[in-house]
Amino acid sequence: MASVIIVGTQWGDEGKGKIVDYLADKCEYVVRSQGGSNAGHTVVVDNVKYKLRLLPSGILHKDKVCVIGNGVVIEPKVFLSEIDELIAKKVNISNLKISNRAHVLMPYHKILDALQEEDLGENKIGTTKNGIGPCYMDKASRLGIRICDLMDKDEFARKLKFNVELKNKLLKKLYNHEEINYEELLEEYLGYAERLKPYVADTAQILNDAIKSKKNILFEGAQATMLDLDHGTYPFVTSSYPSAAGACSGSGVGPRKIDHVIGVVKAYSTRVGEGPFPSELFDDIGQFIRDKGGEYGTVTGRPRRCGWLDACVLRYASYINGLDSIAITRLDILDELDKIKICVGYKYNNEILTWYPANLNILSKVEPVYEEFEGWKTDTSSIREYDKLPENAKKYLKRLSELVDTEISIVSVGAGRDQTIILKNIF
Ligand code: GDP
Ligand code: IMO
Ligand code: MG
Repeated sequence: MASVIIVGTQWGDEGKGKIVDYLADKCEYVVRSQGGSNAGHTVVVDNVKYKLRLLPSGILHKDKVCVIGNGVVIEPKVFLSEIDELIAKKVNISNLKISNRAHVLMPYHKILDALQEEDLGENKIGTTKNGIGPCYMDKASRLGIRICDLMDKDEFARKLKFNVELKNKLLKKLYNHEEINYEELLEEYLGYAERLKPYVADTAQILNDAIKSKKNILFEGAQATMLDLDHGTYPFVTSSYPSAAGACSGSGVGPRKIDHVIGVVKAYSTRVGEGPFPSELFDDIGQFIRDKGGEYGTVTGRPRRCGWLDACVLRYASYINGLDSIAITRLDILDELDKIKICVGYKYNNEILTWYPANLNILSKVEPVYEEFEGWKTDTSSIREYDKLPENAKKYLKRLSELVDTEISIVSVGAGRDQTIILKNIF
């Protein structure tokens, strides 16, 4: 038995969903523990594309218990439309559980997210406008409404009433925005409560019982280390804790119960939204990667910023998460390139930094130092064994593993389940 955490090591969209879907086969439980509908995990099974935002990617395996933990913020409308879509595609969702301690995302969170971004002007974060920040703000301010409150009609009505009063003050006085109607919102959400009820459970208890019964559990990270509220490129981050520690607090499982942490690494870098990105490419190669990789946001459709792989980011992600191994995805996207680079150091004031800068004024001025590799100019998408990869691809992977000082457990060469090369068995 093992409990394994999957985390993003860069700025999100590394292919966490694909890796979770692949490994889910070997485990009984798949858990989301932070974030919300800002996540977009695309999983391809038998050539059918599934876009998951709140539901764990394990849902596509019929017999897995899928858990949405206490650390997630749940927008009921998104949750219900996701399960409706899956039911229409004949996916079994009867083993789905949502934590009674998770927070409920309300329409006023989305309104406030958009208004705050607009107000910030050139200082905006570039959020997904899904209300994530304002919902976590309410949680930290102890104003939030939890799933267990939503299940209790009177408590929900009481909490919603004072929240709507507070939000209307903000909306009217600060933003000169139309007010929210309490009665309409109450009716809408009580309707959702009925539909959510069958899934609500004490998920921390379920997971700890599962650990006692020696079941295999996979924790599916959303967002990524560089978007972590504490460890990312603050303030250009999300409002939750996507690094490995967040999987424990966001699910109610103690850190000593975790056996392995896998960092998912896209073979190049991408970022959506604002914030520094030292190895960003503004040339034809950046555009080539965007086009070949279809690097456009799953949630917002925004073009993703593209750049070379950054070993400084990965070394940082390795110790922040305590990575045991890395899973490299999208190697195939680099197949046609003549030359490929990895950023191996940041130069600042003519010195190579030995630490990852917290100060964004420094981070935005660092000059990336690159190592250059010969491309392999071979289609890797149908290769299934490490030894059969082209020599230059192996050189690239070997050097990457050295630079990050972490072994590679998985290499992915396509979106499909079978397009996966295993170097080390995790379960
Ligand atoms: P996530 O948010 O980390 O789960 O990643 P996304 O789903 O947002 O973006 C990753 C995209 O790459 C998805 O469309 C996946 O289907 C796709 N994908 C995953 N692994 C591979 C791979 O090895 N090669 C290719 N070409 N696509 C992949
Ligand atoms: P997955 O799970 C990539 C980014 C947004 C923005 C910042 C804050 O698919 O990897 P938020 O709406 O969270 O307040 O936005 O974080 N962001 C993501 N970028 N992948 C994601 O999720 C992201 N979730 C949030 O673009 O820069
Ligand atoms: Mg994504």
